[in-house]
Amino acid sequence: MVENELDPILALLDRTTRVAVLTGSGISAESGIPTFRGEHGLWKQFRAEELATPEAFERDPGLVWEWYDWRRGIIGRAEPNDGHRTIAAWQDTFSSFSLITQNIDGLHQRAGSRGPIELHGNIWKMRCLREGTVTECRDVPLPSLPPRCPTCGAMLRPHVVWFGEALDQDVLEGAFHRAAACDLMFVVGTSALVHPAASLPLAAAQAGAKIVEVNPDPTPLSRSADFVLRGKAGQTLPLLQRKIIDKWKS
Ligand code: APR
Repeated sequence: MVENELDPILALLDRTTRVAVLTGSGISAESGIPTFRGEHGLWKQFRAEELATPEAFERDPGLVWEWYDWRRGIIGRAEPNDGHRTIAAWQDTFSSFSLITQNIDGLHQRAGSRGPIELHGNIWKMRCLREGTVTECRDVPLPSLPPRCPTCGAMLRPHVVWFGEALDQDVLEGAFHRAAACDLMFVVGTSALVHPAASLPLAAAQAGAKIVEVNPDPTPLSRSADFVLRGKAGQTLPLLQRKIIDKWKS
């Protein structure tokens, strides 16, 4: 990506007050967290149907928890990168700002983002299979697998959305509401293959927003995006931020 590709986006930002950002696992790649479908992606190493479906959990909760415990280990050792930090800075830059993420790693919050919409849940949260209560636990590794509910002793499951499961309706409605209420949506680090998340940029575009894709590789969204920044989020977003600040200073 060359710097002057940022100029039309800077011009757009000049007349934009309502910004939304949708992120996927690509934004955490530079923090050392594997993506799902990339070269060494999780779905290249593991079979989703054996680890990330309600049926898999029913069949072998111990195996599923071993995998989530392993992922919590990787995520627990990771640090947010400049891509996360730039997005956190934007929440105080634009009069209306929304962050919607598919990521369950919680790195946006660790970078300072307040209240991102977590479409697919959060790996640090667990849900009681009997009471439905959600608790947060950051123990790495987990002291016992599968973990048990502190109040009723029933088994806990990761508070994440598995394949074949519906997203939380309130969370989803909130995300589509924000998408339809922005003038500009940055789509960062997602293959734009998994719905309903992948429909959010289309909903934003239908409501008149401009779409900027940030991704080193092409995706199905690239054709319909207004602007494409072919670069890594941890390099491209801070560069854009510096140019925004330089422009304001000038
Ligand atoms: N910066 C920006 N984008 C990157 C970077 C980077 N440094 N590295 C990789 N990418 C891009 C890849 O080119 C790819 O398009 O990030 C995307 C990651 O795509 P996926 O691995 O498919 O991850 P994601 O889109 O988040 O997956 C969506 O699928 O498996 C489910 O629930 C899971 O939330 C996940 C959903």
